[in-house]
This record gives sequence, C-alpha cells and structure tokens, in this order.
Amino acid sequence: MVVNRSRLQWGRRLAVAAAAAAGCIGALGADAATQANGALLPRDSVEAAVFRGGLVYANYCVTCHGINADGNGRAARLHTPRPANLRASDKNNTYIAMIVRRGGEAVGRSPGMPPWGEELTDEQVNDLVAFVRSVNARP
Ligand code: HEC
Repeated sequence: MVVNRSRLQWGRRLAVAAAAAAGCIGALGADAATQANGALLPRDSVEAAVFRGGLVYANYCVTCHGINADGNGRAARLHTPRPANLRASDKNNTYIAMIVRRGGEAVGRSPGMPPWGEELTDEQVNDLVAFVRSVNARP
C-alpha cells in the first residue's frame, strides 16, 4: 500500500491523534480510523500503523517535537539542542527506532531526547517509525 504523504492528510491525522489523546475522540477519530468505504483499516496495513503511531506521538512526543512534527513543541525552548525537526530528518527507520528506544545520550546525542524503550512496546515503536516516515518530507 502506498502511504499518502500529502500534508493535509498527515496534518489531519495528527489533529485527530491529538484530539484522541486529549480524550475527545468521537466521530472524527472514528472516521480517521476507517477507509473511505467505511471499513476499518486492515490491522497490518501501513495506514493503520501510521494512525496508531500518531496516537503514540500525540501522547509521548508532541510536547517537544510539536503538533507539526517540526521540532517546535511547547517544551522545545527548554532544550539545547532543540528537538529534531522530524519532517526534515535524514535518518533511516533503524536509527529512528534506536534513538526512540535508547534515547539521545546512548547514541551520542543530547539527553534531552528521552529513552522510551521501557515505556513503549515494540509495536508502538514500529508504529512511531511509520508515523515519522509518513510526515517526513524525504522519499
Ligand atoms: C523532552 C523532549 C523530547 C521528547 C518528549 C521527545 N523527544 Fe525526540 N528529541 C528531543 C531532542 C532534544 C532531540 C535532538 C537531540 C540532538 O540533536 O542531540 C530529539 C531527537 C529525536 C530524533 C532524531 C531525529 C533526527 O533526525 O536525528 C527522533 C527520531 C526523535 N527525537 C523522535 C522522538 C519520538 C518518536 C518521541 C516520542 C516517543 C520523542 N522524540 C520524544 C527531545 C524530545
């Protein structure tokens, strides 16, 4: 399946994820979890992984990396270096999963990027990678 990389689509997904994280999932959230014909997204599809990843992102990452995944979250100014602009990341899937699990310090970067390996399941980390890929401007 081809991931829809249009900004409108991912922006909408993230907005839905943020709404869900805030506890107000409703018709909008239910709609985003379904396909155009109203059927649920297949569990193993890339689209479903991106949707789940958006929910994880909205819970764990948005304060630093921001609602637009551009590194401008509400807590971003507390960090030097600033949280990465995930839309412009040149890192591959393996690296993204590694820094998410182990944190910045373990990979020779800032401790401002926390380690999430104890907190998140493998599925959540993989879903986050799918989410980052979906918002990433790089091919
Ligand atoms: C407390 C703030 C904070 C939170 C929360 C946070 N990050 Fe980060 N993140 C950072 C900082 C700061 C950096 C930059 C580290 C550096 O440049 O040394 C970073 C870097 C990254 C990078 C490296 C990108 C690149 O191109 O090099 C990825 C990927 C990443 N974060 C993903 C995530 C994900 C996914 C989550 C949620 C599970 C998350 N971060 C939560 C602060 C945060």
